[in-house]
Amino acid sequence: MPIKNGFISLKEIDFSKKEFLTNSRFSLAPINTGFGNNGAPTGRLIRFHSDRSGKNIAISYVGNVAIDSAFCTNESTLILRQNEPGWNELTSAISSNGSLPGIQISCRFFNIPANRKWRDNNSVGKVHLYRNFIASLSTHEIDLIFESFLKAAILASEYGFEVLQIHAAHGYFLSCLMNPMLNNRSDKYNIDNIGGVCDLLANIRKYCPDSILDIRVSCFEGLSRDPLNEWNIKIKQIKLLESYGYDIVSLSAGFYDLSKNLIYPGRRDGLNVYLQYCEELAGQLRKALVSVSGNIRNLKDLEQKPSNIVFGIGRPLVADPYFVEKSLAQRENDIKHCVWSGLCHYYTRGYKHIFCKINDDI
Ligand SMILES: Cc1cc2nc3c(=O)[nH]c(=O)nc-3n(C[C@H](O)[C@H](O)[C@H](O)COP(=O)(O)O)c2cc1C
Repeated sequence: MPIKNGFISLKEIDFSKKEFLTNSRFSLAPINTGFGNNGAPTGRLIRFHSDRSGKNIAISYVGNVAIDSAFCTNESTLILRQNEPGWNELTSAISSNGSLPGIQISCRFFNIPANRKWRDNNSVGKVHLYRNFIASLSTHEIDLIFESFLKAAILASEYGFEVLQIHAAHGYFLSCLMNPMLNNRSDKYNIDNIGGVCDLLANIRKYCPDSILDIRVSCFEGLSRDPLNEWNIKIKQIKLLESYGYDIVSLSAGFYDLSKNLIYPGRRDGLNVYLQYCEELAGQLRKALVSVSGNIRNLKDLEQKPSNIVFGIGRPLVADPYFVEKSLAQRENDIKHCVWSGLCHYYTRGYKHIFCKINDDI
């Protein structure tokens, strides 16, 4: 394997895991495929991840799995529930192909359904609604959500997921609690306590000691005019959170209900859109890895990056499950490249699950 660095010093994980992680710095970024049936994984989901594991992919993350049926994004959202054999089948398929099974544990909580539009026409109004909503919740309600997060993390690890990613990006509930423009609470979920996310991480670390713990955050949600302002707050929070036990912090950007462009940067946004933030952060963390997604395309160019930086690949792996393997082998001409057609954004387009212009075998 061309890449040998990064993960080993991370934490005391067993030897076989170290071997997997040292094999590649490239993972399948969390993708909400829409391949759920009443919250349970379908055969298509298992096939999707089976096809996107091994092949120099370190972690195959299942995107957006809700902690409870009350916190789904749409009717296709996966839900972590007990006694669903599909989850074991899914993790076995990923592991036996040679990747670590990862799961993104999420909670979308708002009193208006998820926005289908690419961009909200009244983002200022939406920000007010979100702030009022977060303020209106009782401490007990949030206690229950945090308990559900913990239960979901324990269940996910029992199902065989070795990487537990807490979704605190894209305007999902935890990202709202972490955002000073949205959280003006004065109880234990206040902004100085990073919305309580520190305690959540510490609890998951305590009850899932062998899991690799990951938190996904937006470098900036795009709520203020100055993204750097938002980033300066976020980088401080991420540094503080490190002592609560995460192993990987995964950087993305944006807020689903307001504007999807930051989440799914387009062709004209250029390559490696959030890499500069990732590099800045990587120089300041003590031992966690920083993962970054967003138009990461030329993998060979990234090999010289510091060893605590890893990469999440989304759409290129939807288009071609062999994208990482072919890129590292410099078989550029064999790659079926993503063309940013937007067909995979199924919810925005009113479909039930993803499609791809380049790959009809999904
Ligand atoms: C169809 C689709 C579904 C996605 N679902 C999720 C998700 O469930 N959770 C998440 O955090 N990011 C999600 N993302 C964002 C990706 O993880 C990734 O950050 C983004 O696509 C940018 O990476 P890329 O340029 O390699 O595609 C999704 C992206 C796409 C294209």
